[in-house]
Amino acid sequence: MRVAMIGSGYVGLVSGACFADFGHVVTCVDKDPAKIEALTRGDIPIFEPGLDDLVATNVKEGRLSFATDLTEAVRSADAVFIAVGTPSRRGDGHADLSYVYQAARDIAKVMDGYTVIVTKSTVPVGTGDEVERIVRETRPDADFAVVSNPEFLREGAAIADFKRPDRIVIGTDDERARRVMAEVYRPLYLNQAPILYTGRRTAELTKYAANAFLATKITFINEIADLCEKVGANVQEVARGIGLDNRIGGKFLHAGPGYGGSCFPKDTLALIKTAQDAGSPMRIVETVAAVNDQRKRAMARKVIAACGGSVRGKTVAVLGLTFKPNTDDMREAPALSIITALQDGGAKIRAYDPEGMEQAQSLLEHVTYCDNAYDCVEGADALVIVTEWNAFRALDLDRVKGQMKAPVVVDLRNIYRADEMARRGFLYVSVGRPDGAADADGLM
Ligand code: UDX
Repeated sequence: MRVAMIGSGYVGLVSGACFADFGHVVTCVDKDPAKIEALTRGDIPIFEPGLDDLVATNVKEGRLSFATDLTEAVRSADAVFIAVGTPSRRGDGHADLSYVYQAARDIAKVMDGYTVIVTKSTVPVGTGDEVERIVRETRPDADFAVVSNPEFLREGAAIADFKRPDRIVIGTDDERARRVMAEVYRPLYLNQAPILYTGRRTAELTKYAANAFLATKITFINEIADLCEKVGANVQEVARGIGLDNRIGGKFLHAGPGYGGSCFPKDTLALIKTAQDAGSPMRIVETVAAVNDQRKRAMARKVIAACGGSVRGKTVAVLGLTFKPNTDDMREAPALSIITALQDGGAKIRAYDPEGMEQAQSLLEHVTYCDNAYDCVEGADALVIVTEWNAFRALDLDRVKGQMKAPVVVDLRNIYRADEMARRGFLYVSVGRPDGAADADGLM
C-alpha cells in the first residue's frame, strides 16, 4: 500500500512511521520546510520514546520519506490521511477546521485514481461530510471516499498504542474504502486487534465520547479526593476498591492536579459546543471542564495553605512542568496555572523538568530554571511535585531536606508515602490522603 500522511506533527509522524513499519510506503508531508528539513536529516522535532529509531529504520529501508509538497505523495497514494492540527478556535471553543479543509482542497487538486481520504485529526461530527463536499466541489470527476479513523494515542506511549491498540475505529459506508482500510491495518488485524466498522459520524463521535469519558473519570476521582481530605479517607484505597469492579476498571483513577495536555481540554470543549449546537447539551461534560479548570487554581491554594497561608517572598521549588511524564509537551499543563497563581501570591519560583524546560521557558516568565531536582530545591521554602516523572520517585530525601530552607513538600501526584515523609521530618501534603499517619500503608 502507498500512504500519504498530510501533517507531520505528533499524530502524523507517529502514524506515518508505524504504517511504514507495517511495510507500507509512506510519505509524511508538512508545509513547514524547517520541520521537513529536520526530519530528512533524522532530527525528530518531538520527544516520543522509540520514535527516532522507528523513523531511522524505516527511512533507511526506503519505506518512509518526507516532503513539503503533497503532489507526488497524494498522486500515487491508496490512502491519504489528514493529520493536521485542529486547535480550539479563539473565543468560542469550537475546533478550528481550516487546516483540515485546506488539506482536503489540496488533496482534491492532485489525487489520481480511486483514493481513500482519511481524517485522523480529531474532528467534530459532520466534518467528514464537509471534507467530502469540498473534494467533490474541487474535483467533480474524482473517484474517492472519505473515512473517519480517529487516533487513540497517548503521548509517551504512542508507538505501543498504535501497534497494540485496544481497538481501531473505521467510519465509512463505502465498501471499497473498507477494503483499503483493512489492508492498511492488516498487520493489526492479524494480531487480532478489534476493528470496528461504523458509520462516519459514529466514528467521529466515538473519539470525543472516549476522551470526554476519560476526562470525567479523572475529574470524578479528583472530587472524591477532595472529599477524602474532608472526611479522613484515602483516595488511593477508594480508587482500588472501586477499580476492581470490572464495570469501572482500575485505570485513569489517579487523583492529581487535574488533566491537561493537547487533547482532553480541547476535545471536551469541542464536544460541549457540538452538543449545545445540536440542542442536546452534555451537562456532565460541561461540569467536568469547569471543575478541572478550577482545580488547577485550587492546587496553588493547597500549596499556599501548606506554607502557612502565604507564599509572599517565599521560594517555591516546582518539580515537573509537563502535563504528564515522558513528554516535552506543556500544552494546558497544570503547572502553568499553578505557577502563575503562586507568582500572583508573591512567590519566587524555581523549576526543573527532565524534558519540558524549553517549552516552559517560552510560556512562563520570571522562573529560575534549574539543572536538576537538587539544584531546584536549594533554599526553597516548599517543594511542589506537579508531574510524576520517574526521576522524582526516588529522590535522596535527606539531601532534599538538607538543601531546603523549610521541609515542606506538596506532592500533587501521590508518589511518596505519607508516613515515610512524616518520619523523615517533612511537613507533607498530598492529594486525597491522610497526611503523615499510619493510614498511608498498603497501596502506594
Ligand atoms: C489522551 C488519550 O488518552 C488518548 O487516547 C487520546 O488520543 C489523546 O488524549 P494524552 O493527552 O497523551 O492522551 O494523555 P493521557 O495519558 O491520557 O493523560 C491526560 C491527562 O490526564 C494528563 O494530564 C494526566 O496527568 C491526567 N491523568 C490521567 C490523571 O490526572 N489521572 C489519571 O488517572 C490519568
